[in-house]
Amino acid sequence: MKLITAIIREVQLNKVHEELLKANIERITVGRVSGHGQQKREEIYRGMIMAPSLIPKIKIEIAVNDDYVQRTVDAIISGAGTNSVGDGKIFVTNLEECIRIRTEERGEKAI
Ligand SMILES: Nc1ncnc2c1ncn2[C@@H]1O[C@H](COP(=O)(O)OP(=O)(O)OP(=O)(O)O)[C@@H](O)[C@H]1O
Ligand SMILES: [Mg+2]
Repeated sequence: MKLITAIIREVQLNKVHEELLKANIERITVGRVSGHGQQKREEIYRGMIMAPSLIPKIKIEIAVNDDYVQRTVDAIISGAGTNSVGDGKIFVTNLEECIRIRTEERGEKAI
């Protein structure tokens, strides 16, 4: 099992969501976050060097079984990509366990 975490532009959320549904990926968590990538710039404010500005982004989390990783990544890329800086990133991490609270099922069948 893998946890796929994607940071995308706010304006691309609907398109990413559509692409995921088209690929039969129907479980998702979405949150509002802020951050910056490699284009960070320190700013001088009242003579002090301040942290680079943080830009609002959307974080998507999707836990999947291994055979769903590639299609999930593909759907996110096709919905989120605009071919310009700031399009976002996808992180894929190993997921040790998943437990459906209602049934106490564990592992792949709980995903
Ligand atoms: N290494 C990272 N660790 C944690 N969050 C990151 C990382 N890289 C990017 N992010 C998050 O993803 C968002 C979008 O990143 P972004 O697409 O600007 O990455 P980038 O490396 O600057 O690539 P690009 O040059 O295409 O802009 C950032 O605002 C930040 O929230
Ligand atoms: Mg960037």
